[in-house]
Amino acid sequence: MKEFEFYNPTKILFGKGREKEIGNVLKSYGVKKVLFVYGQGSIKEIGLYNKVVESLKDAQIEFVEHPGVKPNPVLSHTREGIDKAKKENVDAVLAVGGGSVLDEGKTIAAGVKVEGDIWDYFKDHNKVIKDALPIFTILTLAATGSEMNGYAVITNEETLEKLSIASEVIYPKVSILNPELTFSVSKQYQAYAAVDTIAHVIEWYFTCNICPNISNRLVESIVKTVMETTEKILENPYDYKVRAEFMWAATLALNGITRLGYGGGIYVNHMIAHSLGALYDLPHGACLSIVIPAWMWWYKDKNTGQFKRFAREIFSKENAEEGIKALKSWFAKIGAPVSLQDENIPSSDIEKIANHVCETTAKTWGLDSVYTPEKLKEVLYLTLRSNIL
Ligand code: NZQ
Ligand code: ZN
Repeated sequence: MKEFEFYNPTKILFGKGREKEIGNVLKSYGVKKVLFVYGQGSIKEIGLYNKVVESLKDAQIEFVEHPGVKPNPVLSHTREGIDKAKKENVDAVLAVGGGSVLDEGKTIAAGVKVEGDIWDYFKDHNKVIKDALPIFTILTLAATGSEMNGYAVITNEETLEKLSIASEVIYPKVSILNPELTFSVSKQYQAYAAVDTIAHVIEWYFTCNICPNISNRLVESIVKTVMETTEKILENPYDYKVRAEFMWAATLALNGITRLGYGGGIYVNHMIAHSLGALYDLPHGACLSIVIPAWMWWYKDKNTGQFKRFAREIFSKENAEEGIKALKSWFAKIGAPVSLQDENIPSSDIEKIANHVCETTAKTWGLDSVYTPEKLKEVLYLTLRSNIL
């Protein structure tokens, strides 16, 4: 085991109907006026908006709405939210939706408090975010883990950069997880959610140089749970038991627990995927399902033991190559894209994408000297339908 420090202050309220508690939760934290952040309409369609408003009114919490967060949330709309929060003098942020809504809510909460422009903190990870408004969330799409972590990802739509911040002060104070609220998530987004959750745990599993069994087994448990529950959800979206297991798996996958004790891990597939998200505005999970099998093929000989173990434990296969092929087939089976062509991205764009990765996320994460454009091109060529496995 590598030595580690672990900190996660988010309180989780998990179970049926718990969204009705939001007003009293805010009251118990002394909140009087909240910025209510949500997306493009799904919370109204599933009747959640009315429940939240009723609960806020019952608890006499004032609220100002900030609707319209788009998937792959953008900087201009986030800045509007920061201006609104300052002008209205709110004392907390309530984000109700999927990862995009939560990330924009977290960024607004930090943006109100930081000195200067919030985007500077995405560009330069040496700049530390030291304060933020308290954040509360009600999750409607289980995928990103944003409900129980200190990350947020935003796209600057002018410069086409998709970057992240990380800070202890943007962990939500409380996140409400009612699996019933995810019944309406489309099959397509469920597939993306499955890919994202698997990505969150396998990134460190494959790039570790210290790879403890306890951590490996946690990862394998999450991958198996995600595969099993996703297949059932795609057949019957209204099964509480499987939605609940999937939801908790997604939270565990990126709340810090599964990577404890690993040495040497990096989120390299996310690094590449963020460029596809920035350049083509594709859903995050779709970017990952294109990148992951290709990167695994490219990297497999650098950590043979972990790749063999994955093939054996997850797919009962003999060798690394068969394990990668099986994962790729499973992504395709659930309806996630597995090549650039599946999303109509021409092979002539590969050079542009490689340079973009290197100049954006790789640079901010200090990985641009390891993942050079040449190496990234090698990975990206493996994402072409004709070149893979
Ligand atoms: O806009 P609304 O109406 O809310 O609709 C959303 C959106 O169209 C819809 N949706 C959400 N809950 C629903 C629902 N539709 C029906 N029923 C429900 N219950 O689903 C669509 C996608 O939502 P979005 O929030 O974009 O999806 P997701 O949760 O996958 O979030 C993706 C964003 O999170 C970032 C990604 O990069 C991407 O920008 N990530 C955040 C991370 C973090 N903070 O830790 C880590 C991840 O690796 C990821 O990068
Ligand atoms: Zn992700």
